[in-house]
Amino acid sequence: MHNLLSEAVNTYCENHSTPESEILHKINRQTHLQTELPIMLSGHLQGRILSMISHMIQPHFILEIGTFTGYSAICLAEGLPENGQLITIDINEEWKDRCEDFFQASGLANKIKMIVGNAVDIIPKLSHEFDLVFIDADKTNYELYYDLVIEKLKPNGFILADNVLFHGDVLEPKTAGKNAKAMISFNQKMMRDDRIECVLLPVRDGIMLCRKK
Ligand SMILES: C[S@@+](CC[C@H](N)C(=O)[O-])C[C@H]1O[C@@H](n2cnc3c(N)ncnc32)[C@H](O)[C@@H]1O
Repeated sequence: MHNLLSEAVNTYCENHSTPESEILHKINRQTHLQTELPIMLSGHLQGRILSMISHMIQPHFILEIGTFTGYSAICLAEGLPENGQLITIDINEEWKDRCEDFFQASGLANKIKMIVGNAVDIIPKLSHEFDLVFIDADKTNYELYYDLVIEKLKPNGFILADNVLFHGDVLEPKTAGKNAKAMISFNQKMMRDDRIECVLLPVRDGIMLCRKK
């Protein structure tokens, strides 16, 4: 179970947050019905938080690492201006066509570009400077993703990294598996890097929010 909030608290929070749009509700449902790991999807509460943060930052360029079924891409793109763009990368092409359909149905397709491939190879080829980066792919590469994106992040730009509490396993370094160990190391790296300031939000599975100074 990735959600560190009790089911009751999570439901109360969802019931007192703006509901999912029709398309996000549909993606959420289809993801639960048709994928093996629906837990990977951000979901209602985290999705509204991503959307709210994006609206607050007012980004022009967003990078997302880890598209999955496109849910968080749509939430983040909600905060883009008319000429803004979100690039989202996923190594798995299985959901690409359906993601494109979802992006069309969301009315945000003109702002979202999905690239299929290994983010480790793709990020160095991107020439953009980003206002906001969402890291939500393979945990063991989080530190590498951070190193790849920090130079492409504008001053006062933000990085969000998901799953940094890893079910709470980060509290038990001795018994932590390789993904939780990767999150422990990533969280420590964030604390050491004086180019940024950060706050770890205890939302769902833990979101690290960093601001480049
Ligand atoms: C947790 S899911 C993303 C969930 C999505 N951001 C959301 O909130 O709905 C992680 C995704 O990262 C992708 N992924 C894993 N390794 C990757 C890599 N090296 N490059 C790009 N994508 C990768 C997986 O295929 C998977 O779809």
